[in-house]
Amino acid sequence: MSSIESVLTETRIFAPHETFRQAATVSGLPAYQALCDAAEQDYTGFWAQLAQQEITWHTPFTETLDESNAPFFRWFADGKLNASYNCIDRHLEKRANKIALIFEADNGDVTNITYKELHQRVSRFANALKKQGIGLGDRVIIYLPMSIEAIIAMQACARIGAIHSVVFGGFSAKSLHERIVDVGAKLVITADGGLRGGKAVALKSAVDEALTLGGCEAVTHVIAYQRTGVDIAWNPQRDLWWHDIEAAESDYCEPTWVDAEHPLFILYTSGSTGTPKGVQHSTGGYLLGAIMSMKWVFDHKASDIFWCTADVGWITGHSYVAYGPLALGSTQVVFEGVPTYPDAGRFWQMIERHKVSIFYTAPTAIRSLIKLGGDLPNKYDLSSLRLLGTVGEPINPEAWMWYHKVVGKERCPIADTWWQTETGAHMIAPLPGAIDLKPGSCTRPLPGIIMDIVEEDGTHIEGTGGGLLVVKKPWPSMIRNIWGNEERFKKSYFPEELKGLYLAGDSAHRDEDGYFWIMGRIDDVLNVSGHRLGTMEIESALVANPLVAEAAIVGKPHEIKGESIVAYVVLKGERPEGEAAKAIATQLRDWVGKEIGPIAKPDEIRFGENLPKTRSGKIMRRLLRSLAKGEEITSDISTLDNPAILEQLKQAAG
Ligand code: WTA
Repeated sequence: MSSIESVLTETRIFAPHETFRQAATVSGLPAYQALCDAAEQDYTGFWAQLAQQEITWHTPFTETLDESNAPFFRWFADGKLNASYNCIDRHLEKRANKIALIFEADNGDVTNITYKELHQRVSRFANALKKQGIGLGDRVIIYLPMSIEAIIAMQACARIGAIHSVVFGGFSAKSLHERIVDVGAKLVITADGGLRGGKAVALKSAVDEALTLGGCEAVTHVIAYQRTGVDIAWNPQRDLWWHDIEAAESDYCEPTWVDAEHPLFILYTSGSTGTPKGVQHSTGGYLLGAIMSMKWVFDHKASDIFWCTADVGWITGHSYVAYGPLALGSTQVVFEGVPTYPDAGRFWQMIERHKVSIFYTAPTAIRSLIKLGGDLPNKYDLSSLRLLGTVGEPINPEAWMWYHKVVGKERCPIADTWWQTETGAHMIAPLPGAIDLKPGSCTRPLPGIIMDIVEEDGTHIEGTGGGLLVVKKPWPSMIRNIWGNEERFKKSYFPEELKGLYLAGDSAHRDEDGYFWIMGRIDDVLNVSGHRLGTMEIESALVANPLVAEAAIVGKPHEIKGESIVAYVVLKGERPEGEAAKAIATQLRDWVGKEIGPIAKPDEIRFGENLPKTRSGKIMRRLLRSLAKGEEITSDISTLDNPAILEQLKQAAG
């Protein structure tokens, strides 16, 4: 893999602050090493012990890892448990009146809910779901804004063994429809609307539209949570108000004990080809991953106030909002709004207000907040903070240093956490009381997570060379399947060339100290503001427009978003120029917004009479990427069928 070279030359090292190290659950490098050694000596024994210790089982497991049908691994398979019981009920004896959720609404209103209250509300809603005929193994789509109700909905599904699939509220009716059909949903839970940055967002109307698109006959009901009070269409045979059905139920719902391998949820994510993949997670192994990473990486203690800013529509909001913090009996902040409303001090104001001690956000948010007010954090009392985290994309050293100095006051370690929807929980991240930090590196794998960097044929790469990032051994919180598509699962994650290694889809290299540096995706997946988007999905959306003959999407480095989306488009008619090009570009952007969601709208659209292709007709994306960046094309273009097209595409027309 000689083509992959690191561009980073970061050499600064930050040791854990002494007071932090002393109090940390895993304190000092030898303690981390001891955990890694224990995992190496007895891999299944290591995980079995943690699973026994950290999870409350209804029926204990006797078998730890079943590899007989690899790569369909099974963990703790004969054990029975309930995720909602582990997240709520088991805290009631000692912590019933502890606050579980501090919900801050877009307008600043705060609602607290204790574990006892959460237990009652989840129970009531779970009973209501049962009354609608939802039970073990049924799929439920959740399309809600960030709210206490979103967490209740997820927990209620888990309580009765229904499998939830949360769809991010920013996805369009069409994307929602695609997921409803693929997962075979029986029920959709939504809200009349959401509120973000003072603006109302419609949700129920998108559900109504999605359900008219066909193939959703299995959906018998839509439950709507009233958030904004906006007028909505109502189908009395199908639609139910959340408050009506919840009020009618009793405060207790017996958890349904499920097998450890029972799917807890399905979450769609983008791949390099085809439609989004329904990543299927287990109950037992997934929960263990969420719990151990909360303890190891976030060094979580009973006194912490935890805040992960991710939406529950993404994996981060599953593992570090809906499940991980609750499984530990944490008090966490849940935020409805956006970091820039009413101004770019919102995050810092909320940290002060709620005395947040662990704060977890995305590099893109950090970069945009630096830009909007680099000294704003200084206006607030951030002394409650003791640990910071980032996720979703590589953090550039400049943003890391700002986060470290201005937010963390050089006192708080930064956990740069590398993981994926498919991994369920953190994979490479510092145990902050044990591992020295280097800005821009996610440092070292968690204990019991065996990572490597390999050539395309699976051969281990010695030294510091770049290559494919892989996981060598199955781990408890790993993806179990792509919903309903075993072949695609095998091909995507366990390709034959890699002989049983899990292919992450990222490239990385390791430095002399064994630290990992993530270099980016190796496939056609973009990372725009920490959101995964497949280039093919956006291309298909564009080509579905009657004006478009052909389209190619590439990513271009972007100061704030990490990557921006550049579309090269060939229209069926003439190549437009000037004002006409601008108008069509706007039209196509809106089209993509409707087809997928606003997050997928191209930032730039360039029109050409054709696209650069090889003689065999393959689009040369490498050249398109260079053009997008404004680089001179110096590489060999002799295989190009139509070199003149490059000149035309150099100019942005839209
Ligand atoms: C990227 C998000 C560098 C990576 C949890 C991965 C990162 C993809 C980091 C997964 C990080 C995530 N440093 N890159 N700390 N964290 N990524 O499924 O390319 O939305 O493959 O999961 O994000 O994105 P996903």
